[in-house]
Amino acid sequence: MSIISVEKAIEKLEQEGVVALPTETVYGLAGRFDSKQAIELIFSTKERPSFDPLILHVSNIEQAKSLMSGWTSAHEALADAFWPGPLTLVGKKSEHVSSVITAGLETVAVRMPNHSDFLKVLEGLKKPLAAPSANRFSKTSPTSAEHVIGEFESKVNVVDGGECERGIESSIVSLSVEGDSVEVLPLRPGLITTEQIVSALESRGFNVSLNTSNNSVSPGSMRIHYQPKLPLVLYDPSKFKPEEVLKNLPSDMKVESFTTLDLGNQPAIAARGLYSKLREASEGKADVLICPWPHSSEPNSEWFAIFDRLKRASSYKLF
Ligand code: TXA
Ligand code: MG
Repeated sequence: MSIISVEKAIEKLEQEGVVALPTETVYGLAGRFDSKQAIELIFSTKERPSFDPLILHVSNIEQAKSLMSGWTSAHEALADAFWPGPLTLVGKKSEHVSSVITAGLETVAVRMPNHSDFLKVLEGLKKPLAAPSANRFSKTSPTSAEHVIGEFESKVNVVDGGECERGIESSIVSLSVEGDSVEVLPLRPGLITTEQIVSALESRGFNVSLNTSNNSVSPGSMRIHYQPKLPLVLYDPSKFKPEEVLKNLPSDMKVESFTTLDLGNQPAIAARGLYSKLREASEGKADVLICPWPHSSEPNSEWFAIFDRLKRASSYKLF
């Protein structure tokens, strides 16, 4: 059995091991930020390339400040507005953060997760934890303890905190601040939208500009990511019927049967169920998963982050 209690998790982390923990977004594979051994074990367990930096998790603002020498009033304002919650803030790292964690970058990514088990572990340890999503590199993120066990079998111990309430990874933003002026650079879309971030800053008196240059994404934002076991095809249902989708696939995708991924009409519920539906549908007998996309995929849409994940998870798009 690899399900363990919060107390046992604290003990294993104190001994510089790694443990999978629930957050409100996805399960994370956690290790002490100040343990070289734990950080190396996170990278090797996930088979994660060393150029992809880790997010650090804190249970209070003091810890965040100790990790980021570039902590500004704008970071403070966003932490105040959204923490604990699915928003990761990037800023200049402090000397306490090893460059293995940041993959050689001068910046560090920090968030306060909103899950009582994760917060209890952080409070017990009194130290920040590095935690990437608890899946093998480029695969679907886990939103339940069963998913983590399915991913790593008995190699990884996991605290079972139930199904993740939000279901997709945190929004990531980098901030450049000069006086009352803040430039917001979105690095990964999530359920906290860029619009919400900008308006939280504006309502706290900042002059905000948005940097939307496309080349500035996280080093871990690969075009191929979150991949399910079966190939996934996204399509526009106003142009194609399901049977027509099969006929319009490229010749190297020879398929006869399909399963439809139905995400429903409410973005919060669609996000919560996204990764478990991708996993479940992949276990079936069909040759391919097809997913109709009748929603907006514009940056200010509530569906934007879900579309981002589906786009990276898919092998082919018909629009
Ligand atoms: O919701 C989440 O954020 C989850 C839970 C476990 O907290 N964590 C998560 O971690 O999604 P991971 O490792 O799967 O994704 C972290 C992303 C990567 O794309 C990485 O490149 C980016 O964060 N990242 C980390 N540090 C960064 C930095 N200094 N600058 C830019 N991007 C960074
Ligand atoms: Mg991940």
